[in-house]
Amino acid sequence: MFPATRMRRTRTTPRMRDLVAETRIDPSKLIMPVFVDENLKNMAPINSMPGIYTYPLEMVGKYLESLETKGIRNILLFGVPAHKDAMGSSAYDPNGGVQKAVKLAKEKTSLTVMTDLCLCEYTDHGHCGIVEKSVINNDRTLDVYDRIALSYAESGSDVIAPSGMMDGQVGSIRKALDQSGFNNTSILAYSAKYSSNLFGPFREAVKSAPGFGDRKTYQMDWRNSREAMREIDLDIKEGADMIMVKPAIFYLDVISEARRRFDLPLAAYSVSGEYSMIKKAILDGYMNENIILEGMTSVFRAGADMLITYFAEWFMENVEQ
Ligand code: PBG
Ligand code: ZN
Repeated sequence: MFPATRMRRTRTTPRMRDLVAETRIDPSKLIMPVFVDENLKNMAPINSMPGIYTYPLEMVGKYLESLETKGIRNILLFGVPAHKDAMGSSAYDPNGGVQKAVKLAKEKTSLTVMTDLCLCEYTDHGHCGIVEKSVINNDRTLDVYDRIALSYAESGSDVIAPSGMMDGQVGSIRKALDQSGFNNTSILAYSAKYSSNLFGPFREAVKSAPGFGDRKTYQMDWRNSREAMREIDLDIKEGADMIMVKPAIFYLDVISEARRRFDLPLAAYSVSGEYSMIKKAILDGYMNENIILEGMTSVFRAGADMLITYFAEWFMENVEQ
């Protein structure tokens, strides 16, 4: 108790504060999302995400090399196809943008390549599954997910990350991969993915806003956290290698509870809306750039082992290691 105990003693100098710091952002634990758009000739800025670009296949190789030069170790690939249809068939095209980008990445870099597996970027209705009479058919969707998973694995993807929130998706993909000999391809499960307003800017980037209704019949209700633990538990039983909570900063309680309950590597996805809010406030001069570090640190402090963030590149450019 005061005056014998003085908490300020260990805050006196920067060195002392570093010495007692409990959390550190390790670049090995950062994952940079990367967008490949088959419709582009040139890199294109994403309006709602200042500083973030989508790339045509012809330019993505160079970009990936530049990321690696900056010290980025891991990427998460997203694709925008030239052709969308009801079945999202471009998603499992062996010559699709993501498939080709994976091959490029594996040829030209030593990045760990993760691929987001979903249908919303590939369907003309913008939903994450196959639609029948305006309802998303869970089990038919799984068959398509299996095909996408195989095509990503064939391209050389190290980690497949199913994000569609269909029931049984992890088990279904695991089985498909193993039956085709891809028993070394990992699965990062988007286990607790909430139906969040924070995905807005991403949907502009990949043109994937649902054409009717919303995603609330498959993505989680933000009022629930115990339900998130059930989702994670099921994904582990289905064979997930790594689990995820998404979004991150509005869901730190969920991250923290997941860390307490489960022993698998735990990822958090700091999504597009988190990036946009922070970036815009900095650009307008309302806050300074340290807010980025405060936000990123909060996710690791809550217990995440790895962080998917659009600030990963900024971090490598701006923070001394
Ligand atoms: C695809 C997918 C989404 C995100 C990752 N994978 C969008 C969505 O579910 O609408 C969001 C990423 C972000 O906002 O940064 N299902
Ligand atoms: Zn989706």
